[in-house]
Amino acid sequence: MKIIKLKLKERSYPIYIEEGIIAKSGSLLRRLQLGSDAAIITNQYLEKKIGQRLKGSLKKYNISSKIYTVPDSEKAKSFRHCLNLIDKISKYDNNKSLFLIALGGGVIGDLTGFVASIYKRGIAYIQIPTTLLAQIDSAIGGKTAIDLPIAKNLIGAFHQPKAVIVDPGLLKSLPKRQLKAGLAEIIKYAAIKDKPLFSFLKNNYKKIISLDKKAVELIETKCIAIKTRIVEQDEKEKKGIRTILNFGHTIGHAIESAGGYNKYNHGEAISIGMICAAQISHNLKLLREENLDKIISLVRLYGLPTRIKGIALNKIMSSLAKDKKFIHGRNRFVLPVEIGKVKVISNIPQDAIRKAILKHGSCY
Ligand SMILES: NC(=O)c1ccc[n+]([C@@H]2O[C@H](COP(=O)([O-])OP(=O)(O)OC[C@H]3O[C@@H](n4cnc5c(N)ncnc54)[C@H](O)[C@@H]3O)[C@@H](O)[C@H]2O)c1
Ligand SMILES: [Zn+2]
Repeated sequence: MKIIKLKLKERSYPIYIEEGIIAKSGSLLRRLQLGSDAAIITNQYLEKKIGQRLKGSLKKYNISSKIYTVPDSEKAKSFRHCLNLIDKISKYDNNKSLFLIALGGGVIGDLTGFVASIYKRGIAYIQIPTTLLAQIDSAIGGKTAIDLPIAKNLIGAFHQPKAVIVDPGLLKSLPKRQLKAGLAEIIKYAAIKDKPLFSFLKNNYKKIISLDKKAVELIETKCIAIKTRIVEQDEKEKKGIRTILNFGHTIGHAIESAGGYNKYNHGEAISIGMICAAQISHNLKLLREENLDKIISLVRLYGLPTRIKGIALNKIMSSLAKDKKFIHGRNRFVLPVEIGKVKVISNIPQDAIRKAILKHGSCY
């Protein structure tokens, strides 16, 4: 078993990585002494597939648990479902030593983490991520949130989990499109911080896409370690260090939102976002053409989109203007300067952004 420790003083926690580790959850959690009662938050599909197995493993170690399900979509990240959950777990709680377990993708992780952050001014929770994106990204770092109708993730808190249990074996049932969305984030990690990982992705496509045990454990461990080190240095995204994780996300979020959140999923949108950011960087003479081509080729190799289709340029530009990460209206882009190295640059001219989008899009 690999263990990566995320070090944040009294908020430090272990991230366990091993295929099949879900069966050991009971013994891992007993050792952490979080309490004797767990509320497992998941959806109906995952409840049947994994939830009952998890419950059994907890029972062996005298942790009683109850499963609560939420709808299987981004809609679960709403006030309604948040309050509904709080109502239910408060009845189960009964002043027991209750902790929460998020069993699911990023949606369940974000919602459970947010409930844990506000219930009784904060209780313990565990992340058991079941999508590739959640295993290498959203389950780590303590960002929790629910959505408002006007924008995603507007209500949230930083609340670190007490442990993250990553079982790559759970990815076997993940639909291919979801798997690829996670791979887009892995390409992102390689492009911002890890040139050898970039080469590994290029040379091991078949193994990775067929979920070869060794290859998946290796890339997941590398990405988790990168995210962990970044979060340790800039937990609350105040120092501009955590910002580099947004490579591809500025234009990516705008594409996601302009497409009504159903044309492109998150991973697909950030794939094009990374290419546009690389194009801007190349146009500003910060990135050599051969490196721009390498990024485009890797995105294409993993069957992710490299061009925007059927979205109006104006729609993308106006979504971009609403980016909540911009400071005093000044835009901020993470631009690659080499494979494995990026710079954060503000005030990119609108025209340069438009040009890059048009170069990689059949926008009308
Ligand atoms: N907190 C953070 O730092 C952070 C970072 C990135 C994204 N996010 C959030 O994460 C969410 C997206 O997460 P996601 O991509 O994991 O999507 P998701 O949680 O919607 O899961 C995608 C789909 O996969 C299904 N699924 C999950 N595990 C499965 C499995 N093992 N087998 C088969 N099907 C499975 C789910 O039921 C769902 O239908 C967004 O709400 C986003 O805002 C948060
Ligand atoms: Zn992302």
